[in-house]
Amino acid sequence: MKIRKRVEKKTKEWEESNKALQSITKVLSLAVSEVPLKKILETSIVAAVELIGADAGSIGILDKEKNIIRYPVNYKMPDFLNRVTAPAGKGIAGYVMTKKKPMIIDDYPSMPQALKEFIRGGLKTLIAVPLMYRGEALGTLGVFGLSLKRRFTEEELEKILAIADNLSLAISHTSAHIERKKAEEDLEKYAKDLETSTKELMDFRRAILNILEDITEAKGEIEKAYGELKETQEQLIQAGKMASTGQLAAGVAHELNNPLVGVLNFSQLLRERMKKDDPNSEYVKMIEKGALQCQRIVRGLLTFSRQDREPFQPTDVNKSIQEALLLAETQVKLQKIKVKCHFASNLPKIMGSANQLQQMALNMIINARDAMLQGGNLTIITRLRSQGLKRELIEVIFQDTGVGMTREEMIRVFDPFVTTKKPGRGTGLGLAISYGIIKNHGGDIKVDSGRGKGTTFTIMLSVTKK
Ligand SMILES: Nc1ncnc2c1ncn2[C@@H]1O[C@H](COP(=O)(O)OP(=O)(O)O)[C@@H](O)[C@H]1O
Ligand SMILES: [Mg+2]
Repeated sequence: MKIRKRVEKKTKEWEESNKALQSITKVLSLAVSEVPLKKILETSIVAAVELIGADAGSIGILDKEKNIIRYPVNYKMPDFLNRVTAPAGKGIAGYVMTKKKPMIIDDYPSMPQALKEFIRGGLKTLIAVPLMYRGEALGTLGVFGLSLKRRFTEEELEKILAIADNLSLAISHTSAHIERKKAEEDLEKYAKDLETSTKELMDFRRAILNILEDITEAKGEIEKAYGELKETQEQLIQAGKMASTGQLAAGVAHELNNPLVGVLNFSQLLRERMKKDDPNSEYVKMIEKGALQCQRIVRGLLTFSRQDREPFQPTDVNKSIQEALLLAETQVKLQKIKVKCHFASNLPKIMGSANQLQQMALNMIINARDAMLQGGNLTIITRLRSQGLKRELIEVIFQDTGVGMTREEMIRVFDPFVTTKKPGRGTGLGLAISYGIIKNHGGDIKVDSGRGKGTTFTIMLSVTKK
């Protein structure tokens, strides 16, 4: 009998240790698996209660942020406990966590730390064990008796401690896992952020490059506008000069015209009355010649000051230039100069004065000749230029390979009475008159020259399309 009893006892012990082993391995297997913490807690409390044949159990967890204890996991206890919270440090759970020591309690309701909710839940006796992680108490595991008769032993406490240790291991594993997962997620987020900010940086870079391009473009436009403004200013100054000098010149020309007519008439009368061999007739001829030259200047001045506006008619620009060339060939000698003409055949007629245009062209040709006393080339070009849909321009270019001008000379070239020629040879009125004629025709003239590099005059005459 004795042996049988001993065998029975041993078998029971083995069975029990086998059961304990099973519970512990179950918790342990959870510790290395990836089951969420809640599931681990639930399995552990069931394992703990079943292991020692207790009535119920509960796990309290510290919410560090809110500084409270929750009881999210209850086994064989009323559900309302899931929503119960207690201030950190309060209750048996708080006490166990603060002391970091397990407790066996034989009469829970009589404890000053007892929570009324657990009393209401029927809690009478218990084992409370802290759940430790890295030297810190994270919560408590409680195994309950629901009758004062169910008292817990040190031996049972040992078993619960084993489960609690493994649970702590599971918690640490899970939190390590969660931390790693969070770190991975963070890393992923940083990588994404980096990608986004790299993209943004690239966009920003592109935007800056665009802005730089715009600035360069704007700079070009500003420079262009500045150039145009300067040109307009120069034109205005020129026009102003022309207007004031023109008025003066017109006044003088008018005053001179009448006495000149007298001088001319009387010198002609004198010549007629003289005998052919009169020795004074040479002087009278010289007086007449001088007076005629004066009259030419006076006429020029009147043209320049636009006092002698002729009626405008449809005029062939090429023809006026050709006539001027013919005059130049007979009046002025162009021997050493080669003249090349490139006349556009499609030029429309412009409203203007053939006389004045011819005079302007003659001035240009004579100036070119004077600039090429040692010979050279004079190129005359006419061509049609479109300016938008409604406007067309006739461009007339006089280009010579003569001595050219300095910048200073170029600036004053259209001013009246500005000449570099010997007295008697130049009056300084040719270009001023030409300028007046071109303006009269609603046109414009530009000069481009350099010392020793020849000179180009470009004249633009507008054609208004019907
Ligand atoms: N084709 C040219 N090449 C070089 N200098 C020129 C040319 N045309 C005009 N000039 C300069 O401009 C000045 C003024 O010309 P203009 O008004 O025709 O007067 P003028 O011919 O009586 O001197 C000239 O004296 C000369 O210095
Ligand atoms: Mg001249």
